[in-house]
Amino acid sequence: MNEKRSFFDGRLSAVLVAAGSSVGLGNIWRFPYVAGSNGGGAFVLVYLGCLLLLGMPVMMAEFAIGRHTRQNAVGAYRSLDKRWSWLGYNGVVSALLIMGFYFVVAGWVGAWLVRSASGELAALSDSAACAKSFASFTSSPWAPLAYTLGFILLNHAVIVLGVKKGIERSARFLMPLLLVMLVVLAIRSLLMEGAAEGIEFFLKPDFSKITPRTVLVAMGQVFFSLSVGLGTMVTYASYFNRETDLKRTALHVSLIDTGVAILAGIVIFPAVFSAGIAPEAGPSLVFITLPDIFNSMGHPALWSSIFFLLLAVAALTSTISLHETATLYLHEEWHLSRSTAAWITTMCSVLLASLASLSMGTLKGWQIGGLNFFDQLDFLTANILLPLGGLATCIFAGWVLDRKVLVEQMHSGKPRTAFLSCTLVVLLRWICPVLLVMIFLDNLHLI
Ligand code: TRP
Repeated sequence: MNEKRSFFDGRLSAVLVAAGSSVGLGNIWRFPYVAGSNGGGAFVLVYLGCLLLLGMPVMMAEFAIGRHTRQNAVGAYRSLDKRWSWLGYNGVVSALLIMGFYFVVAGWVGAWLVRSASGELAALSDSAACAKSFASFTSSPWAPLAYTLGFILLNHAVIVLGVKKGIERSARFLMPLLLVMLVVLAIRSLLMEGAAEGIEFFLKPDFSKITPRTVLVAMGQVFFSLSVGLGTMVTYASYFNRETDLKRTALHVSLIDTGVAILAGIVIFPAVFSAGIAPEAGPSLVFITLPDIFNSMGHPALWSSIFFLLLAVAALTSTISLHETATLYLHEEWHLSRSTAAWITTMCSVLLASLASLSMGTLKGWQIGGLNFFDQLDFLTANILLPLGGLATCIFAGWVLDRKVLVEQMHSGKPRTAFLSCTLVVLLRWICPVLLVMIFLDNLHLI
């Protein structure tokens, strides 16, 4: 089986494909509002600390497991230790559940892209009109469903094209496009009146705002943003070639991921401040507040089209990685053809995403614990399955995985730097599990 596998070409592809997974709605939509409501610059510093101590070590561990076993997430954990195959299943199930709500948000992005380009958003008179348009769109039954289905089919098309022609080629084209659009938007935003105030809020640390809660929120955000803890990076690393340097790849992916999140903040905060809007606006920041701000600029249709295209590209490369996690599992473990496996994954996503989309309106009454289906998927994955997967991945990599495998994968045949591997093992064995147990308890509201 392993001989038939495809491999990504060289170092650049490995970085771009993994960065494609990491950079997503989590960076551009979630990071700015989470930072905005948790202390701005102070949050950014805490985030960087969590990235170094937690995010990067877990990413390296997933890379090592993936490239060593060269299998899908379930097969990878099972082949290393049968008792740990549940960790692979946790990843595959979580990937399906994340797709259930992620595709819905991606559908909204698609709709806002079309409405930006057609000038419909630019015609809205004020923020109340923007809010009303968003609420009536998301709660209507058919239109959001149609956009979500469109996005799922686009994603499906990339997956059936295969590992090289689909996943690798799309990342090599879309990631540079994303970076260019982001830089253009950041420059435009910095040129606005009042930009300095926004940048100050975003980047100047105010340590009085750091609380234990800030640290926990930052850890959760690092995991979601880097796409670690659910076997997605195990899946992608199974396609890395021998020469790929895993430490360096993890470093570059983390730098790109964080750079994009910070640039997204640089796009959003100056604009928000110059319009005199509270930066803590929450999830609606991107869909309601920003279109209103774009409307106060020259050429609103152009700027908002670039922004929503940027979001759509970021979302697509992330959903591709979630889809591939499930598809590769079905392909290898159930011995289905790649195309049948992809169709099954797509059908499951269509079912979950349709329910999640309808739960914003028609099925609103269908609630458990005050959460509709969309929020349940979000809560269950981000607050329970993801920290659980992250914690288990650290314990597995630190305590169960043969240390030789980890060290050998880290060094890819090059001279060994003992200090680095010792640090990695200490982080994975002790520091990461303790920090993660804290996030987990916090998310269950036990502390
Ligand atoms: N990292 C992506 C984002 O920031 C989301 C994502 C893709 C993800 N694959 C994942 C999150 C796997 C957790 C696990 O939007």
